[in-house]
Amino acid sequence: MNASRILVAAALATVSLQLAGCSAAEDAVTGGTSSSGFDAVYTGVIGKNCNGCHGTSAPGYNPGETESSLDFTSADAAYNSLKGQSTGLTGNFAACNGKAFVVAGDASKSLLMASIENATRKGYANGACTSASVSAMESRGGALTAAQVSLVRDWINAGAKR
Ligand code: HEC
Repeated sequence: MNASRILVAAALATVSLQLAGCSAAEDAVTGGTSSSGFDAVYTGVIGKNCNGCHGTSAPGYNPGETESSLDFTSADAAYNSLKGQSTGLTGNFAACNGKAFVVAGDASKSLLMASIENATRKGYANGACTSASVSAMESRGGALTAAQVSLVRDWINAGAKR
């Protein structure tokens, strides 16, 4: 009980530190308050745990005959990919073709979120694309921390801005 409270407190402290850190950095550059911008998501999650497979020459991404239309090789490429829809998925995942990776403002309907968070995946249903047809990317890219998952969820719910 005490141990898990300490862990929760540590996790919250980490999230606050990261959020404080990135908004301060962005404010310094832009003078704005875009703490929900995509750069933090790319640096903290996508460019760290996901670009090993979702790149132009990596397994899981073959231009022309892709299993997935995602290109995570840079923040710009990743953002542009995530604005689109899933294409080229086969097998169990075929039912997810045409589904939006990101539904701005609604993490629960976003295929990206379903693929990285167990809880979202369990409740995810978008036509025939259900929890059973979404693969768990957090286990492929190495376990994501709660803070990483929150970073993505908050970014989507805040409007998925670049
Ligand atoms: C080990 C290689 C690998 C890693 C690492 C990886 N992916 Fe994938 N990803 C794939 C492959 C292959 C597919 C095609 C569908 C399948 O076979 O599961 C895919 C499909 C997807 C899809 C399409 C829908 C779905 O769930 O099937 C999304 C969204 C996705 N990946 C996001 C991510 C994110 C976000 C990360 C980082 C947390 C990530 N991937 C890390 C290989 C990978």
